[in-house]
Amino acid sequence: MDRIQLIKKAKQARELSYSPYSKFAVGAVLLCKDGSEFLGANIENASYPLCMCAERNAIFNAMLHGKTKDDFVCLALIANSPTPCSPCGACRQVISELMPKDALIIMANDNGDIKEVSVDQLLPFAFNKDDLK
Ligand code: THU
Repeated sequence: MDRIQLIKKAKQARELSYSPYSKFAVGAVLLCKDGSEFLGANIENASYPLCMCAERNAIFNAMLHGKTKDDFVCLALIANSPTPCSPCGACRQVISELMPKDALIIMANDNGDIKEVSVDQLLPFAFNKDDLK
């Protein structure tokens, strides 16, 4: 897996962002085992709580193209943030359910700073379906 290429793809995805309110554009790409890649960008709304993050859009995009948890290898994201852009709490919860525990999350920013963690590290003690039993 070429991390730099993935970050470049996330940057391309960011071009698709609709973020007139925050003016904070985020791009993401989800890499699958077969090499396919699914893009995501944040899409905002005048009704602010309806904004959707880049990471969740990338995962939903992949799933709507027939991919499932076991296909997912790595999610890369980028924004023009001072430190590598970190997924929000809601995205962490969704990532934790829909991606394998050992999948890689690559966070990046425009300065070239990169941070990598596993899904497990991103949200320890996640609420999950077993809690519902
Ligand atoms: N956002 C993302 O898309 N991903 C993140 O990891 C952090 C935040 C979006 C949500 C909103 O559209 C804008 O960035 C500002 O919070």
